[in-house]
Amino acid sequence: MDVEEMKRMAAYEAVKQVKDGMIIGLGTGSTARYAILRLGEMVREGIEIIGIATSKQSEKLAKKVGIKIADLNDYEEIDLTIDGADEIDKNLNLIKGGGGALLREKIVATCSKKEIIIADERKIVNKFSFPLPVEVVKFGWKRTADKLRKLGFEVEIRHGFVTDNGNYILDCKYDGLENAKEMEMEINNLPGVVENGLFVGLADEIIIGTKDGVVKKVSMHNK
Ligand code: A5P
Repeated sequence: MDVEEMKRMAAYEAVKQVKDGMIIGLGTGSTARYAILRLGEMVREGIEIIGIATSKQSEKLAKKVGIKIADLNDYEEIDLTIDGADEIDKNLNLIKGGGGALLREKIVATCSKKEIIIADERKIVNKFSFPLPVEVVKFGWKRTADKLRKLGFEVEIRHGFVTDNGNYILDCKYDGLENAKEMEMEINNLPGVVENGLFVGLADEIIIGTKDGVVKKVSMHNK
């Protein structure tokens, strides 16, 4: 079974939890794309949902397949969000932002009653190693990069990329990321940083597409 099939299986399993009348957070990336496409089919079959998109790219796709899109400001809570991830560790913490949508993804995740993460089996890791995406304002970004280096990261600007929020992404390599929650907060405490791609305790359920079918893991942590 190829990777695309694993992504699709995970996405299709997740959308089974979508019910008529729900407000749905729409993730970003190649795995979340399968969920949006399937939701589009469900809308055409008659289900009524409202989508809150985590990126301009997902908004465009959702509209194209017939999903109504709304502004997060108009809804106090999202019923269910389905999103992808770049890496998932054994505590179901995540690294996100490979597609650069981490800020809106984190805002949406924190406003969701339930966050389902869909991925193929390659994303499950014992230890994080995916370079951590950090969204920073353009002003003085090189000095913000210096501060991240002082925390021990090897920092590279994502060349030619500007986020949906008009900011830059710094991809930060590291030897080990031991205390994810502390690191998440330490990075976000730096002036110039808008948000980083560590998602700690935000995933409620993980649905993984594997060679042998779909595997689910439910999180024990409280938001
Ligand atoms: C977008 O910024 C990311 O957080 C994505 O959710 C992540 O990169 C997963 O994307 P793929 O499903 O394409 O691997």
